[in-house]
Amino acid sequence: MKRRPLFVGNWKMHTTVLDACHLAADIAKTCGGLQDRDVLVAPPFTALNQVAHIVAETGILVGAQNVCWEAQGAFTGEISPLMVLDAGGAAVIVGHSERRRIFYEDNVLINKRLRGALAFGLIPILCVGETLAERESGQTFTVVEEQVREGLAGVEAADMADTILAYEPVWAIGTGQTATKEQAQDVHAFIRSLIAEIYEKDIADKVRILYGGSVKPDNIDALMVQKDIDGALVGGAALNAESFGRIIHFQGI
Ligand code: 13P
Repeated sequence: MKRRPLFVGNWKMHTTVLDACHLAADIAKTCGGLQDRDVLVAPPFTALNQVAHIVAETGILVGAQNVCWEAQGAFTGEISPLMVLDAGGAAVIVGHSERRRIFYEDNVLINKRLRGALAFGLIPILCVGETLAERESGQTFTVVEEQVREGLAGVEAADMADTILAYEPVWAIGTGQTATKEQAQDVHAFIRSLIAEIYEKDIADKVRILYGGSVKPDNIDALMVQKDIDGALVGGAALNAESFGRIIHFQGI
């Protein structure tokens, strides 16, 4: 089953508004208007609106890096799904390992964020992945299974058409140490089989599962050949239009 490739640039806590505008304009030049793949950029909240304006006519989507589940209220420091939509966002990353590890977000909280995104019509990108200690002690599949099951708790089958998963092994993020294509494929196939178990095979066949963790121009081609890898969630290499562009224009479609 062929799924439409998707490439997401997670800008994390980088770029001033001006830097973000320049980066968005450069990405729009090389990666706008593509018919056979999707491109999404996730700038910091402060630049979301301006970036959305810059890529408005290019088909490039814009997403936030986190979201609250309430429309408004006394939630200091949070951004509501309505605010993300209002700023021009269409999607949101939830459960990134940096949120889990540094800000102690757990599966219950992440599930609330994900369901909140869906309730307001934002596309959630649910990140899962094991730490090095978990991999070395043979717990990769247990940890990923728990993150997927608890992250998707209460999500209706109909909402899975709008939900994206991302496997990001924590030990591969920002380290230059990508998972091998076999390691990534094994976990992707496992996640897909889990989705088939929780929902049904047809949903599992359609859901897009991205790989993230030191994705670079020189390793994307091998990753994209894998049967269950449908695109990439890119950190560092997405901060440069040339390298992000090369990743998006991977060889071998
Ligand atoms: P790097 O591509 O910098 O390893 O980051 C991956 C990531 O965390 C994307 O969400």
